[in-house]
Amino acid sequence: MTVKLLALAASTRAGSVNKKLLAIAIKQAEQAGAEVTVMDYALCDAPLYRNEDGQAFPEGAKRLSDALHAHAGIILASPEYNWSISGALKNLIDWLSVDKTAPLRGKNALLLCASPSVRGGILGLNQLSVPLAHLGMYVYPHLIAIGEAETQLSTGEIANEKDKKFLTQCVTDFVRVTKHSVR
Ligand SMILES: Cc1cc2nc3c(=O)[nH]c(=O)nc-3n(C[C@H](O)[C@H](O)[C@H](O)COP(=O)(O)O)c2cc1C
Repeated sequence: MTVKLLALAASTRAGSVNKKLLAIAIKQAEQAGAEVTVMDYALCDAPLYRNEDGQAFPEGAKRLSDALHAHAGIILASPEYNWSISGALKNLIDWLSVDKTAPLRGKNALLLCASPSVRGGILGLNQLSVPLAHLGMYVYPHLIAIGEAETQLSTGEIANEKDKKFLTQCVTDFVRVTKHSVR
């Protein structure tokens, strides 16, 4: 059976390096046999979650929730903001956390980050993994952080051979593991 994966880059920036990195990971996932649906982050927009006093559940979060339910896992490319996760993505996760259908529970997640720094956003990915795990996701243990991204990703491939090999191995293994996880 083909494994169905969602792919989301948590950036709406024109020329986003995370979108570029996600495109490379998608190609790899398809080569490994996955069927990948790309989700447009602009369609997941949600107002600031303030408290439990009756804000309507936003359409953007509902769209992502429905998409998550229809897939076994997600490949999520997320920019690092201030050594952490972007406020917009954390807000979206907070909305999903109050969704009674628990769209993240039992789903697999592969986390990626592209950034101009040499560390490649590993600190942000580390922090992103915490709320996702709390909400029942199985976060793939290797975090893929690609530094100096404008240069590294300028050709549509990863220039550094070690990074390229690492991504290939992780994505291929993630597809295999997700295919075999029955929950
Ligand atoms: C508010 C803000 C905070 C940032 N903090 C970091 C950071 O801590 N580490 C880092 O590597 N890059 C940081 N950056 C730079 C982003 O990695 C860079 O803008 C990147 O291109 C964002 O990803 P995108 O191109 O996919 O939108 C920050 C950018 C912004 C706007």
